[in-house]
Amino acid sequence: MIYLDNAATTQVRREVIEAMLPFLDKKYGNASSLHSMGQEARAALERSRESIAKMLKAEPNEIIFCSCATEANNLALKGLALEAKKQGKNHLIVSKIEHHCVLHAAQWLGENGFEVTYLPVDEYGFVDLAELERAINEKTFLVSIMYANNEIGTIEPIREIAKICQENSVPLHSDAVQAFGKIPLYAKGTDMLSLSAHKIYGPKGVGLLMKRKELRIQPLLHGGGHEFDLRSGTENVAGIVGFAKAMELALKEMPRESKRQAKMRDKLIKHALQIPESRLNGHPKKRLPNNANFSFRYVEGESIVMKLNEHGIAASTGSACSSPKLEPSHVLLALGMAPSEAHGSLRLTLGRYNKMKDIDYTVKVLPKVIEELRAISPFWNR
Ligand SMILES: Cc1ncc(COP(=O)(O)O)c(C=O)c1O
Repeated sequence: MIYLDNAATTQVRREVIEAMLPFLDKKYGNASSLHSMGQEARAALERSRESIAKMLKAEPNEIIFCSCATEANNLALKGLALEAKKQGKNHLIVSKIEHHCVLHAAQWLGENGFEVTYLPVDEYGFVDLAELERAINEKTFLVSIMYANNEIGTIEPIREIAKICQENSVPLHSDAVQAFGKIPLYAKGTDMLSLSAHKIYGPKGVGLLMKRKELRIQPLLHGGGHEFDLRSGTENVAGIVGFAKAMELALKEMPRESKRQAKMRDKLIKHALQIPESRLNGHPKKRLPNNANFSFRYVEGESIVMKLNEHGIAASTGSACSSPKLEPSHVLLALGMAPSEAHGSLRLTLGRYNKMKDIDYTVKVLPKVIEELRAISPFWNR
């Protein structure tokens, strides 16, 4: 199988598995236990926390481990909302193209007494900075804008967004799940940042929220008081050790890998755009080095994915979570695309295991697949 769905998840690296194994095997102690096995687990956990903090230019007590980025994003939005309520603030701002875990958390807050502004984006997916400035008011307790979009790969102007937030004394949260390890992050400018291990060749089921220590939030999970009383539950020591290892390796390889993957991405884009009635979604330049997203008129994205699968290529129509729903992508609709066109989207996302020969094969297969599907489409014939 040629795996071109690296934005959905990635293959765990050998080095990560090796780093994790002892903590699944003999070193299985609970990091809260007082005996030496517990202390061994605690030491490994805290070493990972320190290493991650350094990479994010944060302090160790600003790293909160949790089960995934979905949880980290929920903790950022709802945790701060609960705290803000005490200070009489009830307004938050998110972009219209956030991942569903941010959008639906915001929506839930909206149904529970908070006011939500959904910021529009332009045809490339960039948030409107003037609109952001206009939307902030004295009740605003949070701006949450993703670093890079998981469907179309557009990289948001986080520096400018951070500047606006700082000038207005409003905390900024950024979902950097797809950006970490692909582009350098301006973590310093954010008050909260979410990451997930399984997008960077780490294990599934571990994520983190970086949160500045000055910013108070409320926990969503109550219990034993783990993770600075912000996320109770026995820590996933093996997962956290693997997460830190995956982050270290991703950063080390980023300069070389990003360039290599961008070359493959550009070849994909060049060839796919030679297919009639095709378009690239997202910005042509300010996009993740591993992301290509296309629309092909008169064909369904799901049919393209199924056909590519028959040819041994794993692709996606959009984000992994919304793929089975057969609804047009909220991201493409926010770009101003008609629902009929948004249905024909294809996302190809590259990773460290892809080679140029995978791309050569894909660009040979893709035009044939589109042609075959169009041949049976009544809309195309008309
Ligand atoms: C931008 C973005 N945010 C959040 C998530 C959710 O991450 P997790 O699978 O760790 O919950 C994803 C995963 O698809 C994502 O792409």
